[in-house]
Amino acid sequence: VRIDVAFTGGNLLPADLAGRVAVVVDVLRASTTIAKALAAGARTIIPCESAEEAIARAKAFERRDVLLAGERRMVAIPGFDLGNSPAEYQPEVVAGKTVLLTTTNGTKALLNSQGAREVLVGCYANYSAVLAVLRKLARAGSDVLIVCAGRERQFALEDAACAGRFVRGISRRGIRAELGDGARAATLLDRRYGSDIGKLLRDCEHGRALLELGMGADIEACAALNAYPVVPVYRDKQVVRRNSA
Ligand code: MLT
Repeated sequence: VRIDVAFTGGNLLPADLAGRVAVVVDVLRASTTIAKALAAGARTIIPCESAEEAIARAKAFERRDVLLAGERRMVAIPGFDLGNSPAEYQPEVVAGKTVLLTTTNGTKALLNSQGAREVLVGCYANYSAVLAVLRKLARAGSDVLIVCAGRERQFALEDAACAGRFVRGISRRGIRAELGDGARAATLLDRRYGSDIGKLLRDCEHGRALLELGMGADIEACAALNAYPVVPVYRDKQVVRRNSA
């Protein structure tokens, strides 16, 4: 099987995705928030392109059944129920709810990955759970594309390093994988930074911006390996928990 990494999720073409399993990685913070929301019992998460789209789509639901969620410039959108901090997504807030989520990069990368055979959402917080599914699919012959959300169409160190961890995890023991150059480069980043994820997330540009906004707790939540062991899958325009590995 072949494993590739796309470092900026915004410019994928249908041909990049066709027939492959995609994993959308936005460590800070959308992938982690999605994993946390589903672990806390959210029914489904619907990625929306814009705040206006989220508001319009909420009208199809009873108000008590939906939560408007997301950020712009890392800060909660005025009038929305939730921002993009994993800690906000507690069971008493999200259990049974449909979350309409719009974020700057993560939800865009998800929307752009729709043409893949299957689209998973991965990060450090659900690493082992997602890896188990990826290994099973790779063993069955699926090629894998890891889609880093990146930051404002640019490379993001934390997403690339996490992608590298997935590449290493898929390609070890018993799976013969052909690695594209992006996948090779990502594994080098995981080797360099993967032993101290907290430091990686505090040092990268996005992490420093979150720290400046007083959101250090989010960095710790996003660095917590396997804290939310769920496998989110994006199908039929919504993200739900995948049944089993
Ligand atoms: C995004 O999707 O761009 C991120 O999750 C931004 C953030 O809220 O930190």
